[in-house]
Amino acid sequence: MTGARIAVLAGGLSLERDVSLRSGRRVAEALGERGHPVTRLDLGDDLVERLTAAEPDLVYLALHGMAGEDGTVQNLLDLLDVPYTGSDAVASAIAWDKVVAKGLYRRGGLPTPDWLAVSSTAVRGMGAGAALRRVAGHLGDRVVVKPSQGGAALGVRLAPEPAALPGALVTAFNYHDVALIERFVSGREVAVSVVDGVPLPPVEIVVESGAYDFSARYTHGAAQYFAPARLDARALERCAEVALTAMQIAGCRDVARADLIVDDDGVPWLLELDTCPGMTETSLLPCAARAAGWDFPALCERVVDAALRRRAAAARIPTATGGGPRTAGSGASAPQDPT
Ligand SMILES: Nc1ncnc2c1ncn2[C@@H]1O[C@H](COP(=O)(O)OP(=O)(O)O)[C@@H](O)[C@H]1O
Ligand SMILES: [Mg+2]
Repeated sequence: MTGARIAVLAGGLSLERDVSLRSGRRVAEALGERGHPVTRLDLGDDLVERLTAAEPDLVYLALHGMAGEDGTVQNLLDLLDVPYTGSDAVASAIAWDKVVAKGLYRRGGLPTPDWLAVSSTAVRGMGAGAALRRVAGHLGDRVVVKPSQGGAALGVRLAPEPAALPGALVTAFNYHDVALIERFVSGREVAVSVVDGVPLPPVEIVVESGAYDFSARYTHGAAQYFAPARLDARALERCAEVALTAMQIAGCRDVARADLIVDDDGVPWLLELDTCPGMTETSLLPCAARAAGWDFPALCERVVDAALRRRAAAARIPTATGGGPRTAGSGASAPQDPT
């Protein structure tokens, strides 16, 4: 029996294009091995045309960075009535914007490091530069500065003292108009991936030297991974709880990865949720899946399964007017005959 027809969407225009192509290649091969007829697609002017021609049962989103993770592609697929893996457009947009997401996590009672947000508009047009000296009073001398929207640690800088703050902000503004200034948290870096509601073993990241930056992430041997993380059972449990609650708050589904720093008291400080986690050889989600005893094709299949089950469930829900099935994706009703 052949499986569902799947279009793997990877590449795109973001700074993480190459990583996404690597993720997409692996996912396409794995799903092919599992008996799915697979088409590979990239973003481009002809995307709608190619999607229409491919007629997939499901799109597997292996895009990283803007357009793929901020809800743009999800909105387009909803418009086309094509089901896809992962979070819907709203949840994607929430998780993609670190300042917005942290506000919601904090309201939901999750531990996320104290922060401030500064926009380049306020620096250029409102004299915000003069207020930067107040940052240390709020957050301490040591802060991390990052673009509110971005990924793969691009534009993320540690400002070890207040004098380094303006330079770090300029770097962040190269990536996005809003910079997040966050209290530096010292501790173990841990990532918790959740697949179809199941938290996988937390993975601890130890970088040989320097930061867990772009090159440490995608160079073999530049970082060491411990799965499960070297934490006591209670701390491991708390990491999983934070990841699950964060997904619930943002409204994420199918798959996501929470990035945390666990301090010496065992508090798992939530940095962010990634709604399209990397699927490369060195990525954290496949590493967590291995620790759970799932090989890579089994991981891909679980994500696909979650999305297909949702599509099947949506098809069974009659619309309010009884005029046919509800469409998958956004939850909007299928177009109705005006008569
Ligand atoms: N508040 C912080 N304290 C200490 N290190 C941090 C902090 N915020 C980020 N980092 C480091 O920077 C990296 C990237 O930050 P993160 O918020 O996960 O953004 P990205 O979307 O770029 O992955 C983290 O993996 C961690 O190594
Ligand atoms: Mg991260």
